[in-house]
Amino acid sequence: MTRTYKIQVLPGDGIGPEVIQEAVKILEVTSKGIPGLNLSFHEFPCGGKYYLETGVEWSGEAEVFSKQEADAILLGAVGWEKTIGEPVRRDDGQLAGAAVVLGQRRELELYANVRPVKLYPGVSSPLANKQPKDIDFVIIRENTEGLYAGIGKHYGENEREELAIDMRPISRLGSERVIQYAMRLALKRKQGAPSDGKKRVTCVDKSNVLIGDQLFRRVFEEMTKVFPKIVPDYAYIDAWTMWCIRRPEFYNVVVTPNMYGDIISDLGAGIQGGMGVAAGGNIGDTHAMFEPIHGSAPRLAGKRRANPIAAILAGKMMLEWLGERNRDQSALQAATIIEHAVIQVLREEQIRTYDLCMGQYAQVKPSTTKRVGGTIRKIIQEKVKEL
Ligand code: IPM
Ligand code: MG
Repeated sequence: MTRTYKIQVLPGDGIGPEVIQEAVKILEVTSKGIPGLNLSFHEFPCGGKYYLETGVEWSGEAEVFSKQEADAILLGAVGWEKTIGEPVRRDDGQLAGAAVVLGQRRELELYANVRPVKLYPGVSSPLANKQPKDIDFVIIRENTEGLYAGIGKHYGENEREELAIDMRPISRLGSERVIQYAMRLALKRKQGAPSDGKKRVTCVDKSNVLIGDQLFRRVFEEMTKVFPKIVPDYAYIDAWTMWCIRRPEFYNVVVTPNMYGDIISDLGAGIQGGMGVAAGGNIGDTHAMFEPIHGSAPRLAGKRRANPIAAILAGKMMLEWLGERNRDQSALQAATIIEHAVIQVLREEQIRTYDLCMGQYAQVKPSTTKRVGGTIRKIIQEKVKEL
């Protein structure tokens, strides 16, 4: 039986459209080549530039489509600058385009922000002596509450009195669902932690100081009883950043409140070779949105330099999610084919964007966004012919 999945494509701002174009072309050739898999793409403009032109961050139609029609959402990036260093903001001061990212995370209850940190062969890590076999873990960032709940207030009439407060709600239910997600994922990951193969889940918090984190950790502890096969591990966020650099191989799945997850997932991207290869999924019980975790990088826009691999891997994560959710082997197979093609290109070491031409690859001549996307696509085209 051939299933058709409706994919909402939101290229957004800056380098978003450039990398999403490559990802979509790759999803197209892969799905066309795999029997039983069909993707239909539904593209909508959105973001800060669109806001400047229209006064809204995206159309009502786009919003309804994401809530009611889409089987999955593929997002590029949002955020635009009026002039250099001056971001486009909404009337309420929030980044124009935020409705599409932060708004959707809350409204569609995409409570798990899943950010794999995996060093691929052919990518240079800034950590001395760390190889691909050492860096392979997943950060699960709580994605709907904490400092991102959007509850805050600015007080004070004059500068001397100014005070700004952001509330940080952390609920039992919000913690439960994301911790459960992390533990289930750890059970699914056959390889476990690189150092010892253990199905370790690390709770990263600041429960020595903060009340919200005390609740988060208590829920984690309770959950370890529901998942006896999990090896629980605890770290305070400050110490964790040090351990992540010193012994990344110890980590398997890491679960953490929202803002910590935002910060440590960029640290994770750093040790896996940079934002150009870091993908993420915003996953809930009924909806999911996938994105390269780099931003829109307005100053790189149109320069043909952006690395499309993060967006391509976001597409791969999307197929995995669709495949698991629908018990669809074709979608799972498509995900594997895409990842293998990315690995092959990285392993061959020659075709790569400028961000990966560093460390032992400093002598490689950088290729364009399209060249990298096209090379990966050709490998997939050859591969699907054999099916
Ligand atoms: C991320 C980004 C976003 C966030 C920004 C663009 C609002 O940094 O996805 O990590 O803070 O969550
Ligand atoms: Mg971030």
